[in-house]
Amino acid sequence: MISPVDGTRFSSKITDEATAKLRCRDIWKIYGPQPEKVLPLALQSTEPVLSLKRRLEETGHFLALANVSFDVRPGEIFVVMGLSGSGKSTLIRCLSRLVEPTSGEVWLGRENLLTASERRLVEVRRKVMGMVFQSFGLLPHLNVIENVAFPLRMQGMSLSDRMARAEGREKSMPHQLSGGQQQRVGIARSLAVGPELWFLDEPFSALDPLIRRQMQDEFLRLQQMLKKTIVFITHDIQEAFRLADRIAIMREGQIIQIGTPEDILLKPADSYVARFTEEIPLARVVTAGSVMIELPPTWNGNRGHEVDAAAPIETLLPQGLAGTQTFIVTREGVGPVGLLPAAIIAQVLEDDAARRMAR
Ligand SMILES: Nc1ncnc2c1ncn2[C@@H]1O[C@H](COP(=O)(O)OP(=O)(O)OP(=O)(O)O)[C@@H](O)[C@H]1O
Ligand SMILES: [Mg+2]
Repeated sequence: MISPVDGTRFSSKITDEATAKLRCRDIWKIYGPQPEKVLPLALQSTEPVLSLKRRLEETGHFLALANVSFDVRPGEIFVVMGLSGSGKSTLIRCLSRLVEPTSGEVWLGRENLLTASERRLVEVRRKVMGMVFQSFGLLPHLNVIENVAFPLRMQGMSLSDRMARAEGREKSMPHQLSGGQQQRVGIARSLAVGPELWFLDEPFSALDPLIRRQMQDEFLRLQQMLKKTIVFITHDIQEAFRLADRIAIMREGQIIQIGTPEDILLKPADSYVARFTEEIPLARVVTAGSVMIELPPTWNGNRGHEVDAAAPIETLLPQGLAGTQTFIVTREGVGPVGLLPAAIIAQVLEDDAARRMAR
């Protein structure tokens, strides 16, 4: 197996085989004149990825994805994050075979998409997958309602049904809309057919910071209602941490770590990841539920200041500073599950300060 950039090995823990909605196994993508011919070179290589890259470049090939594997669970927001050129767009396009992987497997449930017929693939792209692109991808000659309804036309739905599904949209043309408005249309269009999988490739990257935050909020609200299975690409660490259930960090065509925001912050796979996450405050990511202590057997059911287990401890700071000594941690539908003394919160803040000073 190929070694990561720094020579250490990362094995993605793949534990959800049975339940995953989408599974990628050992995906390689080599751009160039004869990818199949140089593939064995890559598959047999045990050297660090950068030196393999250099060797392939000598043959006129570009290694864009090296041995990428991950699972996406039903209903989760799986964020793929990496710098420009790390292979994110190549990866998300391989999932729908808009880019053909040089080697590997992509499973949609029990169906292997890499062996699916072209006809079946077109059907999957139209009915199962919704896609949003960075450049908004609107058709300039169609107005908003026609753009939203376009995928439904591709599905052969009648005009009146299409308009009913695309209801409430204006008759503006794309060039008359701001970036944020255009991307809302792009999002509406990607959802028009009711896809199970939703792929978004840097949908908000071209927007101003303020609009971008609004769009992120809207996106999270939509997802709360829709519960799609999502692969979301970004190069923005703040965006990744805001949106993700889990994050995959890419570097030079490899995934170097997969985990929850908390995992990645508390146990970065290497110094590269640690540097990346430096600016994210621990208190924004660590939740009450993850640092609480068990309810002591002697706990007498005292009421007090209750907080949800999923609440980041950052949100508890005002009450903590105002003098709350102990928070009662509750889980929706369960009731109290633990206690969180303010001293633990103080400890997390102290550790965070130490973490940042250390770099
Ligand atoms: N058709 C192609 N032929 C050759 N090289 C390509 C091709 N498409 C992409 N690449 C190269 O593969 C690498 C990964 O590209 P990709 O677009 O997947 O990166 P990315 O992570 O999406 O970057 P960005 O954040 O800029 O969108 C880049 O170095 C790019 O130049
Ligand atoms: Mg890209």
